[in-house]
Amino acid sequence: MVETDVKHTDGIVFFDTTLRDGEQSPGCTMHADEKLRLAHQLAALGVDVLEAGFAIASTGDSESIRAIARDVKGPRITSLARCKREDIEAAAYAIEPAAKNRIHVFLASSDLHLEAKLKITRAQALEQAAESVRLACTYSDDVEFSAEDATRTDPDFLTQIVTVAVQAGAKTINLPDTVGYTTPAEYTRLFQRIKATVPGIENIILSTHCHNDLGMAVANSLAGIEGGARQVECTINGIGERAGNAALEEIAAALMVRRDVMPYTNNIVMTQLYPTSKMLAETISFGCSPNKAVVGANAFAHESGIHQHGMMANPLTYEIMTPASVGVAATNMVLGKHSGRRALADRLSALGHVLDREELDAVYGRFTALADRKKSIYDQDLLGLLKAESPVL
Ligand code: KIV
Ligand code: ZN
Repeated sequence: MVETDVKHTDGIVFFDTTLRDGEQSPGCTMHADEKLRLAHQLAALGVDVLEAGFAIASTGDSESIRAIARDVKGPRITSLARCKREDIEAAAYAIEPAAKNRIHVFLASSDLHLEAKLKITRAQALEQAAESVRLACTYSDDVEFSAEDATRTDPDFLTQIVTVAVQAGAKTINLPDTVGYTTPAEYTRLFQRIKATVPGIENIILSTHCHNDLGMAVANSLAGIEGGARQVECTINGIGERAGNAALEEIAAALMVRRDVMPYTNNIVMTQLYPTSKMLAETISFGCSPNKAVVGANAFAHESGIHQHGMMANPLTYEIMTPASVGVAATNMVLGKHSGRRALADRLSALGHVLDREELDAVYGRFTALADRKKSIYDQDLLGLLKAESPVL
């Protein structure tokens, strides 16, 4: 078990932000009852920290976080807050009913954000970060500080702002790749640098928070772990701002499948991955793409004859994890123009028709002709092919 309050651990804390960073992206808005239902499912999935929303955003969001804090047992419930008194007080009110709670305060640290967006100096940023973390600590015994746009921040200034946040009482320090800009090797070095330069950092949990603008969010999250991070912030199906956040199911599956090179424990209940993905897809206005890793419709589907043949001989030939291990019912052998006789015979047998060699050859000929014309072949089509040849089959 990962104990989220322990500092030195080779366990990875899963911080889910589907209901905050995920929800704030186009097409992902959820009603309070939908968020509550998903929060219960995220608890069943075993997430350690559940970011339920951004309390200051609206009364509805605040009440929705409060309902989750009241009803959902297991995860630590958190709300995001800017480094502003009213945000921190709103977050404190929303998370107050939870047995375990956290306030997550953030402030941009890159010069670009300080100058263009916040219009404050570096000195003012240091002051605001320290003051806000101190205030948040008066409401919760668990405060996280995020240096927004950390990956485009001057590394010396990043050390300074993280240092003041640690001195003010933050227990978790997050280094977000806010715009999905970093690369794996660079992100590893960023964590190593912070570990080497911030006094007292050995008592702090470092966190990744990666966006997917260049398609590297999961790789970067794993690289962050390599550099010393022990919390990963992620979302179900990778939903989130622009190209999304690091996908929780992909990080969890990578840690499961490649535990030989990443020997870290975590509390994720792997068989709940697919049910959670499905529940989210049914709640928001889109599902994931069919070729989405781990939970997409094609993640365990095989159409080509060569792959189907290999799968029938030994599933390890073309699957690196079992569908059951992530909560998917079964491998899907899709029949199409690339399929071979063996897969056709198996499907017909499952439909109650065991063919001899000659019958199979005849049906296979008609099957490939149909598959050239029709993109998807359904069981009804197969039954039709049988009838066309011989009513006795
Ligand atoms: O992407 C980001 O920087 C964020 C912070 C608010 C943590 O979502
Ligand atoms: Zn984000």
